[in-house]
Amino acid sequence: MASSYGYPFQAQHCLAISQFSRPDIDTLLALGEHYLDLNVQKSQDQKILTGKTLVNLFFENSTRTQKSFEIAGRRLGADVINMSVAQSSVKKGETLLDTATTLNAMNPDILVVRHGSSGAPALLAQKVSGSVINAGDGMHEHPTQALLDALTLRRHFGADFGGLRIAICGDITHSRVARSNVQLLNMLGCDVRLIGPPTLIPSDADRWGVDVFHDMETGLKGCDVIMMLRLQLERMSGSFVPSKREYYHFYGLDRAKLAFAKPGAMVMHPGPMNRGVEISSDVADDPDVSLITQQVESGVAIRMGILHALSEAQDGIS
Ligand code: NCD
Repeated sequence: MASSYGYPFQAQHCLAISQFSRPDIDTLLALGEHYLDLNVQKSQDQKILTGKTLVNLFFENSTRTQKSFEIAGRRLGADVINMSVAQSSVKKGETLLDTATTLNAMNPDILVVRHGSSGAPALLAQKVSGSVINAGDGMHEHPTQALLDALTLRRHFGADFGGLRIAICGDITHSRVARSNVQLLNMLGCDVRLIGPPTLIPSDADRWGVDVFHDMETGLKGCDVIMMLRLQLERMSGSFVPSKREYYHFYGLDRAKLAFAKPGAMVMHPGPMNRGVEISSDVADDPDVSLITQQVESGVAIRMGILHALSEAQDGIS
């Protein structure tokens, strides 16, 4: 049977951007766009996941990602169960694989996993029979964040946003968001650059297909989009910046630094934001320059699109 959106999406899991082809990505973005429209109309007629169970398994804190998967699953008719590590047996010493075996016995159709270790969702994908979605693993990948960011860009700049110059700024080293975004934006033909202090740029960034800058003035020149990242202090095992105050002075996005970018440049941030550390409230809250609220909206829509595509692939509808 042909899929409801006319493309043979074959993936069983959503673990990393590199697993997808360009047509896969275009299909997911088109589905996301469809759900963005539908969510505005508050239409209730899409129940593609009726009878399916989605388990949100979060070993790290999350507000946006967990809630948006929950809303996305419910809007599509799934039964959604949220398991956060604080309430689970993991706190009592159970291993990841024992947790997986236990969950698998409950037959979830879709397992959404966030974990502090890179590769944990991929490992679970080998052990469970349902589909696994990586909701962020360590400093490795956060594919649904990159997809929601691309959907936000497509919505704002139009389907043809491949020519944009995009700067990803700040704590690149500890960011799974940056790693997924660089791959996806490169695949879509964007001109991607990284800006940050040398201590927060990964040593292998010269192989990422990006230009690297260490000062905002040069790096932001000609940029259409500025993606700011949180300073991920919880992943730092030493001191990577002299002080938050000094970091803000050199890398925090305020009006003065925004003026280095192209006139009309738009600002993004995956959240949670550290106001006054990587971004000023003045910039973050200005609807004329900030796409941050749209990113949250796109998050629900793209996750509905991903759930839709994975669910039909599971049912052999492709
Ligand atoms: C990001 C994450 O968890 O990787 N947040 C998110 O998913 N919206 C970025 C971050 O924590 O800074």
